[in-house]
Amino acid sequence: MTDDRPLVAGVMGWPIGHSRSPRLFDHWFRVHGMAGRYVPLAVRPEDFAEVYRALPRAGFRGVNVTVPHKIDALARADRATDAARAIGAANTIVFEADGSISADNTDAYGVARNLAEGAPGWSAADGPAVVLGAGGAARAVLFALREAGAPEIRLANRTREKAEVLAAGFPGVTVVDWDERAGALSGTATLINATSLGMTGAAPLEIDLGAAPQGMLVNDLVYTPLATGLITAARARGLRTVDGLGMLLHQARPAFRAWFGADPAVDGALRDAVLGP
Ligand code: ATR
Repeated sequence: MTDDRPLVAGVMGWPIGHSRSPRLFDHWFRVHGMAGRYVPLAVRPEDFAEVYRALPRAGFRGVNVTVPHKIDALARADRATDAARAIGAANTIVFEADGSISADNTDAYGVARNLAEGAPGWSAADGPAVVLGAGGAARAVLFALREAGAPEIRLANRTREKAEVLAAGFPGVTVVDWDERAGALSGTATLINATSLGMTGAAPLEIDLGAAPQGMLVNDLVYTPLATGLITAARARGLRTVDGLGMLLHQARPAFRAWFGADPAVDGALRDAVLGP
């Protein structure tokens, strides 16, 4: 069946002003010679259900959903992938040509691809991982690490109870106190920051990397700035690092495929387009 809907999608969030996703999709539209549009949609939580139902009727092929709609978007879909169910949230919605709604979560895929491409030879299965944070991003990281075979995950969050709730849903995850985060690095293969600490305008992430083994890989999901305090400190110790921008780029790829039927590249030109002035 040919799909004659226009090449239109967007990203729903509240607030949405800072989203870099439109640049990302505009770059891919250019590369593929497609007359597509990807628009930021500022949708208040109380308006979410109405807008979500209306978008397919306006010809949208799909939307990305971000804070605070990710859980609602999953709950209101007609079907969902295993990843979306396990993570408990959706970031990629496909409005099917028959009018039904499919939900996926590509954040874990984004994390996994970013690490695979940014750190060739590294494997989550190499040893235990330390994950900082217990929000939506941390959920996706736990799923990605578990799928990739991490033998043990040590989870630390300022609010310990939130880490405990999260750990209860993921076998192999143990909770460590926020104050014990530096000591937990002993013997680990991977450290991932999934808190908002280190972001421009937020407090810095304070963690002593003295206990980190030489081969440990450090990944910060924060990408504004690209060289966060954590990435800079890790590099100074000779540790391998992967910045967070690649996760944003990779998580968008399955959406482009599902909505527009072409497989876009994640490369230097895309990074430049997203980072550009
Ligand atoms: P996201 O969906 O992007 O993960 P989130 O759900 O707001 O965003 O999660 C933010 C994370 O950063 C949480 O783990 C939060 O810790 P709490 O659960 O204790 O709130 C963490 N975070 C934010 N500010 C922090 C700070 N000043 N110190 C320590 N952790 C902080």
